[in-house]
Amino acid sequence: MIKVAVLGACGKMGREVVKAVTGADDMTLVAACDVAPADDLGIDVHVDFGYILNDAKPDVIVDFAKPFVMGNARNAIQRGIVPIIGTTGLADDELSELAQLSEQKGVAAMVIPNFAIGAVLMMRFAAEAAKYMPDVEVIELHHDKKIDSPSGTAIKTAAMIDESRQAAGVVAHTPIGGSDPARGDERGGVRIHSVRLPGLVAHQGVLFGGAGQLLTIRHDSIDRTSFMPGVLLAIRQARQAKGLVYGLDQLL
Ligand SMILES: NC(=O)c1ccc[n+]([C@@H]2O[C@H](COP(=O)([O-])OP(=O)(O)OC[C@H]3O[C@@H](n4cnc5c(N)ncnc54)[C@H](O)[C@@H]3O)[C@@H](O)[C@H]2O)c1
Repeated sequence: MIKVAVLGACGKMGREVVKAVTGADDMTLVAACDVAPADDLGIDVHVDFGYILNDAKPDVIVDFAKPFVMGNARNAIQRGIVPIIGTTGLADDELSELAQLSEQKGVAAMVIPNFAIGAVLMMRFAAEAAKYMPDVEVIELHHDKKIDSPSGTAIKTAAMIDESRQAAGVVAHTPIGGSDPARGDERGGVRIHSVRLPGLVAHQGVLFGGAGQLLTIRHDSIDRTSFMPGVLLAIRQARQAKGLVYGLDQLL
């Protein structure tokens, strides 16, 4: 049995993870932790992260606490516990530190900006398309409570497109740079436009343009259950994983 703790257990994602882990027959929920505990989960919720480290001693911590607390991930790795981080908005220096620490300690760390298998395929197909249609922009749409923008998925998509274009030796023709905010943010030479509205969950379109033709690759998470098969997959692979795993595509 894989021993799992959930951080941010009372949030929208944390609740789904608690349900998914409880329903899986090869894992056991050893702790749920949240700074704002709710009493409608039907389980004990601990406020203190120390309970996870010192008492529950899980194999993995699934972290959907918002905002992300680097110290928690650091302490987990130090204790030999694999952090599986679903919270988005990690800074580049936090990713580098996680990679370094997990190498040093021989304990994997996972940062998964999007657990939905369909979103992972969308990113993979976008990277493939960029070799042949290098002119591309990303429109990501999320619910209005999301605090970070662009989304972690959009940043990862742009990184994969950038890498793929460079490997193929192709360049975009559309101008980059400039300071007009209406043209969106820019990562790896890819424009990203962020929409935030109530009613949305997590959606992204990757729009490619070529002479006389357009290609759109789109993914929609319409319910948070879409993320759970990916969460369970990451938990099942955590003990065999090595170093920093950035993105679910590395586990497929
Ligand atoms: N990786 C993915 O596939 C994916 C999918 C959806 C959302 N997300 C991300 O997951 C995060 C959480 O989203 P949400 O909609 O569940 O948010 P939410 O606001 O509903 O829940 C966050 C929870 O974290 C708790 N919390 C805050 N600080 C804490 C701390 N230090 N220790 C313990 N608990 C703490 C809050 O009390 C709250 O219950 C966001 O960053 C979101 O962008 C990722």
